[in-house]
Amino acid sequence: MTTGTVPELGSIEPNQHGYRDFALGKFSFRRDEYFAHVRWPNGSHMIAVDAFLRAVQRDVAWGFFYGIVNFDAVIGTVNHYGTVDLFAGRFNAQYRQAGLDYSENFKTDVISRLFEAILADWTNAPFDPFAAPEETSGAFGPKNGSNKEAISRHRVTAKRMIGAPGDEPVRTDDNGFPVNRHFTDVPQDAPEVHAEPGFEHEVVSVNLFAYLSRSDVTWNPSVVSVCKNSLYCPTTEEYVLPVIHGNDRVEWFVQLSDEITWEVSDRETGRPRARVTMKAGDVAAMPADIRHQGFSKKRSMLLVWENANPDLPKRYERGELPPYPVEF
Ligand code: PHB
Ligand code: FE
Repeated sequence: MTTGTVPELGSIEPNQHGYRDFALGKFSFRRDEYFAHVRWPNGSHMIAVDAFLRAVQRDVAWGFFYGIVNFDAVIGTVNHYGTVDLFAGRFNAQYRQAGLDYSENFKTDVISRLFEAILADWTNAPFDPFAAPEETSGAFGPKNGSNKEAISRHRVTAKRMIGAPGDEPVRTDDNGFPVNRHFTDVPQDAPEVHAEPGFEHEVVSVNLFAYLSRSDVTWNPSVVSVCKNSLYCPTTEEYVLPVIHGNDRVEWFVQLSDEITWEVSDRETGRPRARVTMKAGDVAAMPADIRHQGFSKKRSMLLVWENANPDLPKRYERGELPPYPVEF
């Protein structure tokens, strides 16, 4: 079932804690001082509200990303690129076996509006869902203002490359991006460019480490370069990836600094498959049939390399491509 029109997503009156209730299709959402409560016709679930808002923030900012975004082992979304499934227990072997999983399909703009409305109402003034826990506070408690600035940040999506004429600018103190507390040792020099005469406006070079050292968000890949379907999406990571990503294609990871540990599980069931600890310089391909969640004990730099070819999910589903990219 696709629900196309939704006249009113949220209640007018706030509940006793000051937060509005929301509903879409047969799902409903309610928050109290500590938890988000999600209900659907044959079940209900609670998630700590800081974790819930961090996950919803990513899902909205990324346009539902590639494939599956699990908020935890029960709730999440599947991107069908135009429509989105909102599910409960769909990728949880025990819910499936018990026949307790539930899923509804919505037009992307409709579910985006729901998630944006929840984020706007449930994010208190001191809480920044993109920030590392040490750099924010105040997700809990009764309603306490709002934080529109934090939840409606500009998403960096270069057309060609950051720093290119007319494209996404590099980050500086002056445009509001100071060096992060964990990256004060990162050199801030800029490369020298010596272009052949006539190519002065076509040769661009930036210090990517300096760029990343000035990121004010965590677990939020930015598109910094585009070559056809090849997207370089580096990001700075601290604490826990707020979603468990179920891939619909292979992704490459290049650990640019420090260390991240990845928990890798079966995409369908959640059965554990591997724990991968990546240190600076390590490269890994995450297969197309897994879900993964990263843990970074100190802010680190990760390059996520995505292949945006829209045919890939179908080709993996049909078995035309193996779920891993290299045969050794
Ligand atoms: C991923 O799911 O591949 C992913 C998502 C966000 C990140 C890093 C990796 O910050
Ligand atoms: Fe991923």
